[in-house]
Amino acid sequence: MKDRIEELLKEIETFAGSAEDHAEEFRLKYLSRKGQVSSLFDDFKNVPNELKRDVGQLLNKLKTRAQERWDELRSSSASNTSNAEFNFDPTLPVGGFVGSRHPLSLVRREIIEIFGRLGFTVAEGPEIEDDWHNFTALNFPEEHPARDMQDTFFIADKIALRTHTSSVQVRVLENSKPPVRMLMPGRVYRNEAISARAHCFFHQVEGLYVDKNVSFADLKQTLLYFSREMFGAETQIRLRPSYFPFTEPSAEMDISCTICGGKGCNVCKNSGWVEIMGCGMVDPAVLQNCGIDPNVYSGFAFGMGIERITMLKYGVNDLRLFSENDVRFIGQFRSAL
Ligand code: DAH
Repeated sequence: MKDRIEELLKEIETFAGSAEDHAEEFRLKYLSRKGQVSSLFDDFKNVPNELKRDVGQLLNKLKTRAQERWDELRSSSASNTSNAEFNFDPTLPVGGFVGSRHPLSLVRREIIEIFGRLGFTVAEGPEIEDDWHNFTALNFPEEHPARDMQDTFFIADKIALRTHTSSVQVRVLENSKPPVRMLMPGRVYRNEAISARAHCFFHQVEGLYVDKNVSFADLKQTLLYFSREMFGAETQIRLRPSYFPFTEPSAEMDISCTICGGKGCNVCKNSGWVEIMGCGMVDPAVLQNCGIDPNVYSGFAFGMGIERITMLKYGVNDLRLFSENDVRFIGQFRSAL
Protein backbone atom coordinates (compact mmCIF):
# COMPACT_ATOMS: atom_id res chain seq x y z
CA MET A 1 0.00 0.00 0.00
CA LYS A 2 2.83 2.37 0.86
CA ASP A 3 4.42 1.70 -2.53
CA ARG A 4 1.19 2.42 -4.27
CA ILE A 5 0.85 5.74 -2.42
CA GLU A 6 4.45 6.73 -3.29
CA GLU A 7 3.78 5.84 -6.88
CA LEU A 8 0.67 8.02 -7.00
CA LEU A 9 2.52 10.90 -5.33
CA LYS A 10 5.01 10.87 -8.19
CA GLU A 11 2.33 10.44 -10.79
CA ILE A 12 0.30 13.44 -9.74
CA GLU A 13 3.39 15.68 -9.80
CA THR A 14 3.96 14.93 -13.46
CA PHE A 15 0.32 14.72 -14.48
CA ALA A 16 0.00 16.21 -17.96
CA GLY A 17 -3.48 15.22 -19.03
CA SER A 18 -4.78 14.69 -22.51
CA ALA A 19 -8.31 16.04 -22.36
CA GLU A 20 -9.06 19.71 -23.09
CA ASP A 21 -9.93 20.36 -19.44
CA HIS A 22 -6.87 19.07 -17.53
CA ALA A 23 -8.17 20.01 -14.10
CA GLU A 24 -11.40 18.09 -14.57
CA GLU A 25 -9.54 15.10 -15.97
CA PHE A 26 -7.31 15.16 -12.88
CA ARG A 27 -10.26 15.37 -10.51
CA LEU A 28 -12.00 12.42 -12.13
CA LYS A 29 -8.88 10.29 -12.14
CA TYR A 30 -7.74 10.88 -8.54
CA LEU A 31 -10.21 12.79 -6.39
CA SER A 32 -13.70 11.78 -7.41
CA ARG A 33 -15.66 9.18 -5.47
CA LYS A 34 -14.27 6.44 -7.69
CA GLY A 35 -10.88 8.06 -8.19
CA GLN A 36 -7.62 6.42 -7.24
CA VAL A 37 -6.99 8.43 -4.07
CA SER A 38 -10.48 7.76 -2.78
CA SER A 39 -10.19 4.04 -3.42
CA LEU A 40 -6.95 3.95 -1.38
CA PHE A 41 -8.94 5.38 1.51
CA ASP A 42 -11.42 2.54 1.03
CA ASP A 43 -8.55 0.04 1.20
CA PHE A 44 -7.22 1.67 4.39
CA LYS A 45 -9.47 -0.47 6.54
CA ASN A 46 -7.50 -3.54 5.44
CA VAL A 47 -4.16 -2.13 6.62
CA PRO A 48 -2.87 -3.97 9.71
CA ASN A 49 -3.24 -1.88 12.84
CA GLU A 50 0.47 -1.51 13.55
CA LEU A 51 0.96 0.13 10.12
CA LYS A 52 -2.13 2.33 10.23
CA ARG A 53 -0.28 5.34 11.67
CA ASP A 54 2.46 5.44 8.99
CA VAL A 55 0.18 4.61 6.10
CA GLY A 56 -2.46 7.01 7.36
CA GLN A 57 0.01 9.92 7.41
CA LEU A 58 1.23 9.10 3.97
CA LEU A 59 -2.30 8.78 2.67
CA ASN A 60 -3.22 12.18 4.09
CA LYS A 61 -0.13 13.65 2.48
CA LEU A 62 -1.25 12.20 -0.85
CA LYS A 63 -4.73 13.60 -0.44
CA THR A 64 -3.48 17.09 0.46
CA ARG A 65 -1.00 17.09 -2.40
CA ALA A 66 -3.64 15.89 -4.85
CA GLN A 67 -5.97 18.72 -3.73
CA GLU A 68 -3.15 21.23 -4.23
CA ARG A 69 -2.36 19.89 -7.68
CA TRP A 70 -5.99 20.13 -8.62
CA ASP A 71 -6.06 23.78 -7.51
CA GLU A 72 -2.92 24.47 -9.51
CA LEU A 73 -4.36 22.91 -12.63
CA ARG A 74 -7.60 24.83 -12.28
CA SER A 75 -5.93 28.17 -11.81
CA SER A 76 -3.49 27.61 -14.65
CA SER A 77 -6.28 26.85 -17.11
CA ALA A 78 -8.22 29.88 -15.89
CA SER A 79 -5.19 32.14 -16.15
CA ASN A 80 -4.50 30.84 -19.64
CA THR A 81 -7.75 32.26 -20.92
CA SER A 82 -7.50 35.53 -19.07
CA ASN A 83 -3.85 35.92 -20.07
CA ALA A 84 -4.84 35.44 -23.68
CA GLU A 85 -7.27 38.33 -23.32
CA PHE A 86 -4.85 40.60 -21.51
CA ASN A 87 -1.99 39.79 -23.83
CA PHE A 88 -3.95 40.68 -26.95
CA ASP A 89 -1.99 43.44 -28.61
CA PRO A 90 -3.87 45.09 -31.47
CA THR A 91 -0.75 46.90 -32.63
CA LEU A 92 1.12 43.71 -33.49
CA PRO A 93 1.71 43.12 -37.23
CA VAL A 94 -0.88 40.79 -38.71
CA GLY A 95 0.19 37.29 -39.52
CA GLY A 96 -1.05 35.90 -42.82
CA PHE A 97 -4.22 37.81 -43.63
CA VAL A 98 -3.93 41.34 -44.91
CA GLY A 99 -7.09 43.26 -45.81
CA SER A 100 -7.60 44.80 -49.21
CA ARG A 101 -9.79 47.50 -50.67
CA HIS A 102 -13.01 46.47 -52.36
CA PRO A 103 -12.57 46.37 -56.16
CA LEU A 104 -15.35 48.96 -56.60
CA SER A 105 -13.55 51.31 -54.20
CA LEU A 106 -10.33 50.85 -56.12
CA VAL A 107 -11.94 51.70 -59.44
CA ARG A 108 -13.91 54.60 -57.94
CA ARG A 109 -10.65 56.05 -56.63
CA GLU A 110 -8.94 55.53 -59.95
CA ILE A 111 -11.73 57.32 -61.85
CA ILE A 112 -11.60 60.23 -59.39
CA GLU A 113 -7.83 60.36 -59.67
CA ILE A 114 -7.82 60.46 -63.49
CA PHE A 115 -10.44 63.22 -63.71
CA GLY A 116 -8.73 64.98 -60.81
CA ARG A 117 -5.77 65.55 -63.14
CA LEU A 118 -8.12 67.52 -65.41
CA GLY A 119 -9.31 69.67 -62.52
CA PHE A 120 -12.50 67.80 -61.56
CA THR A 121 -13.37 67.82 -57.85
CA VAL A 122 -15.79 65.51 -56.04
CA ALA A 123 -19.34 66.20 -54.84
CA GLU A 124 -21.83 63.85 -53.23
CA GLY A 125 -25.59 63.95 -52.74
CA PRO A 126 -28.28 62.05 -50.84
CA GLU A 127 -29.39 58.53 -51.78
CA ILE A 128 -32.97 59.33 -50.81
CA GLU A 129 -33.99 61.91 -53.34
CA ASP A 130 -37.04 63.95 -54.27
CA ASP A 131 -38.79 63.94 -57.61
CA TRP A 132 -37.41 67.35 -58.53
CA HIS A 133 -33.73 66.40 -58.29
CA ASN A 134 -34.03 62.88 -59.65
CA PHE A 135 -36.47 63.61 -62.49
CA THR A 136 -38.20 66.95 -62.97
CA ALA A 137 -35.20 69.29 -62.97
CA LEU A 138 -33.48 66.83 -65.31
CA ASN A 139 -36.18 67.42 -67.89
CA PHE A 140 -37.97 64.08 -67.53
CA PRO A 141 -41.49 64.46 -68.94
CA GLU A 142 -44.28 63.63 -66.47
CA GLU A 143 -45.14 60.40 -68.25
CA HIS A 144 -41.55 59.24 -68.75
CA PRO A 145 -41.28 55.47 -68.14
CA ALA A 146 -38.23 55.91 -65.86
CA ARG A 147 -40.59 57.38 -63.28
CA ASP A 148 -42.59 54.17 -63.35
CA MET A 149 -42.89 52.13 -60.16
CA GLN A 150 -41.20 49.25 -61.96
CA ASP A 151 -37.85 50.99 -62.19
CA THR A 152 -37.88 53.18 -59.13
CA PHE A 153 -38.08 52.37 -55.44
CA PHE A 154 -40.50 54.95 -54.09
CA ILE A 155 -40.38 55.66 -50.36
CA ALA A 156 -43.22 58.14 -50.14
CA ASP A 157 -45.11 60.43 -52.48
CA LYS A 158 -42.47 61.99 -54.76
CA ILE A 159 -39.61 60.63 -52.62
CA ALA A 160 -37.51 57.77 -54.00
CA LEU A 161 -34.13 56.07 -53.79
CA ARG A 162 -32.20 57.87 -56.48
CA THR A 163 -32.06 55.96 -59.75
CA HIS A 164 -28.93 57.72 -60.98
CA THR A 165 -26.26 60.14 -59.81
CA SER A 166 -27.50 62.74 -62.31
CA SER A 167 -29.57 64.03 -59.38
CA VAL A 168 -26.35 65.39 -57.88
CA GLN A 169 -25.78 67.45 -61.07
CA VAL A 170 -28.90 69.41 -60.19
CA ARG A 171 -27.83 69.93 -56.57
CA VAL A 172 -24.38 71.12 -57.66
CA LEU A 173 -25.72 73.45 -60.35
CA GLU A 174 -28.34 74.92 -58.00
CA ASN A 175 -25.64 75.78 -55.50
CA SER A 176 -22.72 77.01 -57.58
CA LYS A 177 -21.74 79.52 -60.15
CA PRO A 178 -19.90 78.31 -63.27
CA PRO A 179 -17.23 77.31 -63.98
CA VAL A 180 -18.25 73.95 -62.51
CA ARG A 181 -16.05 70.89 -62.97
CA MET A 182 -17.36 68.11 -60.78
CA LEU A 183 -17.31 64.37 -60.40
CA MET A 184 -20.18 62.81 -58.46
CA PRO A 185 -19.77 59.21 -57.38
CA GLY A 186 -22.40 57.28 -55.47
CA ARG A 187 -24.76 54.38 -55.03
CA VAL A 188 -27.98 54.20 -57.02
CA TYR A 189 -31.04 51.95 -56.83
CA ARG A 190 -33.35 50.36 -59.37
CA ASN A 191 -36.19 47.95 -59.02
CA GLU A 192 -34.60 45.17 -61.06
CA ALA A 193 -34.42 41.42 -60.66
CA ILE A 194 -30.93 40.41 -59.47
CA SER A 195 -28.87 38.47 -62.01
CA ALA A 196 -25.29 38.27 -63.30
CA ARG A 197 -25.98 41.44 -65.30
CA ALA A 198 -28.37 43.48 -63.17
CA HIS A 199 -28.75 44.39 -59.51
CA CYS A 200 -31.16 46.41 -57.43
CA PHE A 201 -28.30 48.67 -56.37
CA PHE A 202 -25.07 49.63 -58.07
CA HIS A 203 -22.65 52.53 -58.33
CA GLN A 204 -22.21 55.35 -60.78
CA VAL A 205 -19.89 58.25 -61.35
CA GLU A 206 -21.37 61.35 -62.89
CA GLY A 207 -19.26 64.05 -64.51
CA LEU A 208 -20.25 67.64 -65.18
CA TYR A 209 -18.46 70.57 -66.76
CA VAL A 210 -20.26 73.87 -67.20
CA ASP A 211 -18.56 77.06 -68.34
CA LYS A 212 -18.61 79.56 -71.20
CA ASN A 213 -17.96 77.98 -74.59
CA VAL A 214 -17.87 74.33 -73.56
CA SER A 215 -18.25 72.24 -76.72
CA PHE A 216 -18.89 68.67 -77.75
CA ALA A 217 -15.23 68.50 -78.82
CA ASP A 218 -14.24 69.15 -75.18
CA LEU A 219 -16.47 66.28 -74.11
CA LYS A 220 -14.99 63.92 -76.65
CA GLN A 221 -11.40 64.75 -75.80
CA THR A 222 -12.04 64.48 -72.06
CA LEU A 223 -13.59 61.02 -72.48
CA LEU A 224 -10.80 59.87 -74.79
CA TYR A 225 -8.24 60.92 -72.20
CA PHE A 226 -10.13 59.09 -69.46
CA SER A 227 -10.55 55.90 -71.52
CA ARG A 228 -6.87 55.68 -72.38
CA GLU A 229 -5.76 56.34 -68.81
CA MET A 230 -8.20 53.74 -67.51
CA PHE A 231 -7.92 50.99 -70.10
CA GLY A 232 -4.56 51.61 -71.79
CA ALA A 233 -3.05 53.87 -74.46
CA GLU A 234 -4.29 51.67 -77.33
CA THR A 235 -7.93 52.20 -76.41
CA GLN A 236 -10.22 53.67 -79.09
CA ILE A 237 -13.56 55.34 -78.40
CA ARG A 238 -16.67 55.84 -80.47
CA LEU A 239 -19.76 57.94 -79.78
CA ARG A 240 -23.18 56.73 -80.91
CA PRO A 241 -26.17 59.08 -81.02
CA SER A 242 -28.60 58.36 -78.19
CA TYR A 243 -31.28 59.99 -76.07
CA PHE A 244 -31.35 61.23 -72.47
CA PRO A 245 -33.87 63.85 -71.31
CA PHE A 246 -31.13 65.92 -69.66
CA THR A 247 -28.66 66.13 -72.54
CA GLU A 248 -28.96 67.42 -76.10
CA PRO A 249 -27.35 66.08 -78.19
CA SER A 250 -26.87 62.81 -76.31
CA ALA A 251 -24.52 59.93 -77.01
CA GLU A 252 -23.47 56.56 -75.76
CA MET A 253 -19.77 55.95 -75.63
CA ASP A 254 -18.12 52.64 -76.52
CA ILE A 255 -14.49 51.69 -76.08
CA SER A 256 -12.62 49.16 -78.17
CA CYS A 257 -13.10 45.79 -76.46
CA THR A 258 -10.69 45.37 -73.56
CA ILE A 259 -10.66 41.60 -73.99
CA CYS A 260 -10.02 41.11 -77.73
CA GLY A 261 -8.70 44.60 -78.54
CA GLY A 262 -11.44 45.05 -81.16
CA LYS A 263 -11.13 41.80 -83.08
CA GLY A 264 -14.42 40.42 -81.75
CA CYS A 265 -15.12 38.06 -78.85
CA ASN A 266 -18.05 37.04 -76.67
CA VAL A 267 -17.64 39.98 -74.27
CA CYS A 268 -18.19 42.48 -77.11
CA LYS A 269 -20.57 40.10 -78.89
CA ASN A 270 -18.17 40.09 -81.84
CA SER A 271 -18.64 43.79 -82.46
CA GLY A 272 -15.21 44.84 -81.15
CA TRP A 273 -16.85 47.57 -79.03
CA VAL A 274 -18.27 47.73 -75.51
CA GLU A 275 -20.47 50.48 -74.14
CA ILE A 276 -19.23 52.18 -70.98
CA MET A 277 -21.20 55.37 -70.49
CA GLY A 278 -23.87 57.84 -71.50
CA CYS A 279 -23.00 61.47 -72.17
CA GLY A 280 -24.00 64.65 -73.94
CA MET A 281 -24.29 68.41 -73.80
CA VAL A 282 -26.32 69.56 -70.79
CA ASP A 283 -29.82 70.39 -72.06
CA PRO A 284 -30.44 74.17 -71.85
CA ALA A 285 -33.69 73.38 -69.98
CA VAL A 286 -31.65 71.74 -67.19
CA LEU A 287 -29.39 74.77 -66.85
CA GLN A 288 -32.48 76.97 -66.74
CA ASN A 289 -34.10 74.77 -64.07
CA CYS A 290 -31.00 75.22 -61.92
CA GLY A 291 -30.85 79.00 -62.34
CA ILE A 292 -28.01 79.13 -64.86
CA ASP A 293 -28.43 81.19 -68.03
CA PRO A 294 -28.14 78.84 -71.03
CA ASN A 295 -27.45 81.80 -73.30
CA VAL A 296 -24.22 82.47 -71.45
CA TYR A 297 -23.15 79.01 -70.35
CA SER A 298 -22.97 75.55 -71.88
CA GLY A 299 -21.73 72.27 -70.51
CA PHE A 300 -21.26 68.57 -70.93
CA ALA A 301 -22.17 65.69 -68.67
CA PHE A 302 -21.49 61.97 -68.57
CA GLY A 303 -22.42 59.05 -66.37
CA MET A 304 -20.88 55.61 -66.03
CA GLY A 305 -21.43 52.51 -63.91
CA ILE A 306 -18.50 51.65 -61.64
CA GLU A 307 -19.40 47.94 -61.71
CA ARG A 308 -19.29 47.93 -65.51
CA ILE A 309 -15.87 49.61 -65.64
CA THR A 310 -14.56 47.20 -63.00
CA MET A 311 -15.92 44.15 -64.82
CA LEU A 312 -14.23 45.22 -68.05
CA LYS A 313 -10.98 46.18 -66.40
CA TYR A 314 -10.63 43.00 -64.35
CA GLY A 315 -12.59 40.51 -66.45
CA VAL A 316 -15.33 39.93 -63.83
CA ASN A 317 -18.37 38.26 -65.36
CA ASP A 318 -20.98 38.34 -62.58
CA LEU A 319 -22.28 41.53 -60.96
CA ARG A 320 -23.38 39.66 -57.84
CA LEU A 321 -19.77 38.97 -56.84
CA PHE A 322 -19.38 42.62 -55.83
CA SER A 323 -21.94 42.45 -53.05
CA GLU A 324 -21.33 38.95 -51.70
CA ASN A 325 -18.16 39.91 -49.81
CA ASP A 326 -16.50 36.55 -50.41
CA VAL A 327 -12.85 37.10 -49.43
CA ARG A 328 -11.75 34.63 -52.11
CA PHE A 329 -13.03 37.19 -54.62
CA ILE A 330 -12.36 40.57 -53.01
CA GLY A 331 -8.96 39.45 -51.66
CA GLN A 332 -7.65 39.22 -55.24
CA PHE A 333 -7.68 42.98 -55.71
CA ARG A 334 -4.66 44.95 -54.59
CA SER A 335 -3.51 48.38 -55.51
CA ALA A 336 -1.28 51.17 -54.38
CA LEU A 337 -4.21 53.59 -54.59
N1 DAH B 1 -28.11 59.01 -65.79
C1 DAH B 1 -27.87 58.10 -66.89
C2 DAH B 1 -28.22 56.68 -66.44
O1 DAH B 1 -28.30 56.44 -65.28
C3 DAH B 1 -26.44 58.13 -67.32
C4 DAH B 1 -26.07 59.42 -67.96
C5 DAH B 1 -26.26 59.59 -69.31
C6 DAH B 1 -25.55 60.46 -67.23
C7 DAH B 1 -25.92 60.75 -69.93
C8 DAH B 1 -25.20 61.65 -67.84
C9 DAH B 1 -25.39 61.77 -69.21
O2 DAH B 1 -24.71 62.68 -67.19
O3 DAH B 1 -25.04 62.96 -69.81
O4 DAH B 1 -28.38 55.84 -67.26
